[in-house]
Amino acid sequence: MASSSSSRSAAAAAVVLVVAALCLHGVTAQLCADYYDSTCPNAFDIVKRVLINAHRSDTRIFASLIRLHFHDCFVQGCDGSLLLDSLPGMPSEKTSAPNNGSARGFNVVDAAKAALEAACPGVVSCADILAMAAEISVELSGGPSWCVLLGRLDSKTSDFNGSLDLPAPTDNLTVLQQKFNALNLDDVDLVALSGGHTFGRVQCQFITDPLYNFSGTNMPDPTLDSAYRAFLTQRCPRNGNPTALNNLDPTTPDTFDNHYYTNIEVNRGILNSDQELKSSPEAQGTTAPIVDQFAGSQDDFFAAFAQSMINMGNIKPLTDPSQGEVRKNCRRLN
Ligand code: HEM
Ligand SMILES: *[C@@H]1O[C@H](CO)[C@@H](O)[C@H](O)[C@H]1NC(C)=O
Ligand SMILES: *[C@@H]1O[C@H](CO)[C@@H](O)[C@H](O)[C@H]1NC(C)=O
Ligand SMILES: *[C@@H]1O[C@H](CO)[C@@H](O)[C@H](O)[C@H]1NC(C)=O
Ligand SMILES: *[C@@H]1O[C@H](CO)[C@@H](O)[C@H](O)[C@H]1NC(C)=O
Repeated sequence: MASSSSSRSAAAAAVVLVVAALCLHGVTAQLCADYYDSTCPNAFDIVKRVLINAHRSDTRIFASLIRLHFHDCFVQGCDGSLLLDSLPGMPSEKTSAPNNGSARGFNVVDAAKAALEAACPGVVSCADILAMAAEISVELSGGPSWCVLLGRLDSKTSDFNGSLDLPAPTDNLTVLQQKFNALNLDDVDLVALSGGHTFGRVQCQFITDPLYNFSGTNMPDPTLDSAYRAFLTQRCPRNGNPTALNNLDPTTPDTFDNHYYTNIEVNRGILNSDQELKSSPEAQGTTAPIVDQFAGSQDDFFAAFAQSMINMGNIKPLTDPSQGEVRKNCRRLN
């Protein structure tokens, strides 16, 4: 364990160096690790304190928060658009199918925002709160740390239609690759970020296809491990409660580790989109070898995950003050 954790910190140090090189002040409006150092030096610790407190009564919250950052970044860039409540003529992204009844943790984001407004009013954006919360959540769950780039503004719009195109659990590998590539994320990013499914929960409604109607065949996914299928069929009977919850990673449900990949290796990918990364014909020579690599080396996974989170956090950063603002309340425009 000692050697594994020291090479892990070596990997983390390498990530920090890469990031430090990106922090050029005053050149262009670029995200930067020390963005709040003079205006709100305790921002990170304030968010962390709120998260630790929330976790006392909700062990799932860390998983829920990283998913919010993902669903924010993939729609219109990482700009807090997901957090806006509905306005006349501008339905909230929260109400679209990929989010409704599924995206959660908004009250904790509100609590972090309130604490930050008390300490440094009008300074820290909601989009940056999600980016910090994602890192803190992974770190506190046993995963890697990385240097969070900051300086995003919050959007003045949301994009309900855009949120309909979020990656879906029924997507095949080709569609997943297209959705990631459209945001400049490659196969390594796709496989590494999917490793977010090492913790958190999934509702039965999202796994009925692989259990009962794989690719419209009215049959289970033939590649799914039969004992695992039997277990899930019991948890999620055909006409059972669609919102009943299951662990995404049954081996270590709340720990951030590489079991997501070792599960896939034994055909225990819970979502179709998970098992596709290894089992689909198109995965051979593309994503399957990356799954193998991360299953074999948690250090490789952690280093790649940290870099891919930075890549995802860099999607269309909103830094132009004429286009964005620092919301006082994450749910509303100022
Ligand atoms: C590759 C495409 C992806 C698809 C199709 C997908 C789909 C899903 C689905 C269907 C759920 C269950 C939601 C529910 O039952 O309410 C879920 C949960 C989750 N996803 Fe993903 N996801 C993807 C990528 C990601 C990424 C990139 C991350 C983060 C880096 C992530 C992190 C999570 C987490 C942590 C949960 C559990 C949330 C909770 O317990 O509240 N997912 N995902
Ligand atoms: C969101 O889900 C709730 C029930 O969970 C439902 O009543 C509501 O109609 C849904 N909203 C949309 C926009 O689909
Ligand atoms: C969203 O999609 C609906 C249905 O396709 C369309 O009527 C509406 O104009 C779209 N909204 C925007 C803002 O593009
Ligand atoms: C993946 O899904 C898309 C959209 O449903 C479909 O057009 C395509 O043929 C599928 N690709 C494979 C290889 O199954
Ligand atoms: C199975 O999937 C197909 C294609 O998606 C769909 O047309 C069919 O209604 C589904 N069957 C059931 C029983 O849900």
